[in-house]
Formats: sequence, C-alpha cells, structure tokens
Amino acid sequence: MRTVNVPLGSRSYPIFIGEKILSELGAHCARLQFGRRCAIISDENVAPLYAKAAGGSLRRAGFEPVLVVVPAGEKSKSLRMVQTCCDQLACHRLERKSFIVALGGGVVGDLAGFVAATYLRGVAFVQAPTTLLAQVDSSVGGKVGVNLAAGKNLVGAFYQPRFVLCDLAALRTLHEREFRAGLAEVIKYGIISDAALFAQLERDMPRLLRRDPEILAEVVARCCEIKADVVRQDETEGGLRAILNFGHTIGHAIEAVSGYGRYLHGEAIAIGQVAAAKLSVRASGLPAAEAGRVEELLRRAGLPAGVKLSARRQTALIQAMRLDKKVSDGEIQFVLARRIGQVEAGRKIREEWIRAVLAAPAAVKSNRH
Ligand SMILES: NC(=O)c1ccc[n+]([C@@H]2O[C@H](COP(=O)([O-])OP(=O)(O)OC[C@H]3O[C@@H](n4cnc5c(N)ncnc54)[C@H](O)[C@@H]3O)[C@@H](O)[C@H]2O)c1
Ligand SMILES: [Zn+2]
Repeated sequence: MRTVNVPLGSRSYPIFIGEKILSELGAHCARLQFGRRCAIISDENVAPLYAKAAGGSLRRAGFEPVLVVVPAGEKSKSLRMVQTCCDQLACHRLERKSFIVALGGGVVGDLAGFVAATYLRGVAFVQAPTTLLAQVDSSVGGKVGVNLAAGKNLVGAFYQPRFVLCDLAALRTLHEREFRAGLAEVIKYGIISDAALFAQLERDMPRLLRRDPEILAEVVARCCEIKADVVRQDETEGGLRAILNFGHTIGHAIEAVSGYGRYLHGEAIAIGQVAAAKLSVRASGLPAAEAGRVEELLRRAGLPAGVKLSARRQTALIQAMRLDKKVSDGEIQFVLARRIGQVEAGRKIREEWIRAVLAAPAAVKSNRH
C-alpha cells in the first residue's frame, strides 16, 4: 500500500492507495476518535458491488454503519438529495461524533462531503472513491457541493475528509468509457506539472488501459501527490489551484452547449485540453510538437480530441465560456502550457484565437514567427 499525505496543518490527512484495501476501512477509522454510529453514502451502482465489504469492515472494527443509497448520476448532486440524506442520518440518530463514508464516484463524494459539512454543523467524513476520476481528483482537496438549476457546483464548501482510501481493485468494475474519461484528468496532471509522468503515460498507456494494478498504483499515487501539492499551497482556490483547470474552460463550455450528458466530463476536457494546447502554441510558446504529443496521448487513451461545430454553435460555446466563473473584464481566461509539465494560469485570450483553434481541430498552427 502507498500513502500520500495532504499537509494542511490541523486538517492534514493521508490518502491510502492499494489493491483490495476496502477491507481495511474499519481499521483506519478505528484509529480516529470517531463514535460508533456511522453512515455509508453510496449510489445504486456502487452499493451492490462494494457496500457489503465496506460495511463488514466497519462492523469488524466495532462500528454500527447504516447504508444510505442515492440514485446514480449527476442528478443526485442536488439540495433535495442533501435533505433526503440528512433526514436519514437524523432518523438513524447519527450524532456529533458520528461519521460518514462516501463510497462511490465524484457524485457521491461531492454530495456526501457536503452532507458531512452541514449535518449538525459538520461531522467527520471519509472518502472511499471508486472511479478513476474520483481517486485522482475529486476525493482529494476538500471541495464538496451540489448543483443548482442555474449551474454546476453552485452550492458547496471546502471541507476536508479525515482520510481517503483508494481501492484500486474497485476500478476493475468501472465501465470502459468512465475509465477512459478518468484518464483525461491523469494526462492533465502530466501537462500541468510533471513531464516525467507525461512521458511515463506515453510509454505505459497500453498497460494502463489494461488496468494493470502495478502501473495504476504508481500513476494514481503520483496524481494524488500532484493534487495534494497544489491544494497544500492553495487550499481555497486563491490562485495556484486554478492550474488544475487546464482544458476546463473550453471543456465546461462543451459540456454546457452540448447538453449535460452527451459528453462525460473527462471527454469534454480532453477536447478542451487539445484546444488549450493549440492556444498555448500561439500564446505561451508551447512547441507545436508538444501540442501534438498532448493530442496524440489523449487519442491513444481513447478520448475525443475535437468537435466539429457550426459557426452558430461556436458562438454559443464562446458565450458559455463568458458565463463561466473564470471570466474577468469580459475576457476569457485560460490556463496555458509553456511546455509539457509547466503551465501558467490567468491568461486572457482574444476571441478570434479561440475561434481559430476551434475551427481547425486537426492542424496546429503557430503565429509566433
Ligand atoms: N470535488 C472536486 O474537486 C471535483 C473534481 C472533479 C470532479 N468533481 C465532480 O465529480 C463528479 C463526477 O465524478 P465521476 O466521474 O466519478 O462520476 P460518478 O460519480 O457519476 O460515477 C460515474 C458512474 O460510474 C459508476 N461507478 C462508480 N464507481 C464504480 C465502480 N467501481 N464500478 C462500476 N461502476 C462504478 C457510478 O454509479 C456512475 O454511474 C461531477 O459531479 C464533478 O462535478 C468534483
Ligand atoms: Zn475535471
């Protein structure tokens, strides 16, 4: 088993990464000053697969878990579902020393984390992420929350878990498309801060796609280290944490204009990363060959690298970017790469350039010379 620490003073916590470690959930909880009563919050897909192992482990360690199951999918990230969960916790008399285990993907993690942050003004919580995206991204860093009709993640909190337990064996039951979508975030970590990780992904992509446990352990641990390091320096997104949004400005807009659900988040940000790499060639000196490597690696991970858009949909896309949180003075801000492994946030980009990279999905052109 590997351990990565998230050093945040009194809110520091470990991330445990290993094969078949869900059975150790109870033992890890027993080392903390938790009360006996607790809840596992999971979804309809994950609960039948893993709730028994998680609950059994907690019971063996002397805890009394109740299981709260929500429907699978983004729709469960709602205030209504927060209320349903809180009602259940109250009904089972969970008290201040009780704790919550989030067992599932990013949806369950964000929802259960927000429930933990607010039920009785806050009870302890533990993340047991079961998707690749949740293991390398959403379970680490303490952003929790739900959606409003007006947009995603508009209600939330910064609330850190007491530990994160990534059981790599859980990834084996994940649908191929979900697994590949998680790889988009993995590749992102290489681009934003680790050229060696990026090179390893180029080398090991076939093994990764086979979900080889050894390579998964290495890669998940490295991604968690990078996220932990960014979060350590900027827990509440004052600045640096923005680099985690590489590929997300265009990616979020693609999710919005294509109707949530057509593309998975990871697929939309794969397209966004290719576009951001092309903008980087124009605006921040990324060598065209490196933009090509970004595109090639995403393609090899089975992810889309571009979308064909009519002029009208391009306008809608740019409109959606303007509505995104990262807009200031009407100019759309991007995270751009100087080279693979190094990015800069807060770059304002002219609309013509965005249109140009969207219009030419295949060719990478530079106007620097
Ligand atoms: N808090 C953060 O910092 C942060 C960061 C990134 C994304 N997010 C959020 O994460 C969410 C997306 O997370 P996700 O991609 O994990 O989606 P998800 O939680 O919806 O999981 C994807 C699908 O896989 C199923 N599933 C989960 N684990 C499984 C397993 N081991 N075997 C089989 N099926 C399994 C789920 O039931 C679901 O149908 C979004 O709501 C996004 O906003 C949050
Ligand atoms: Zn993302």
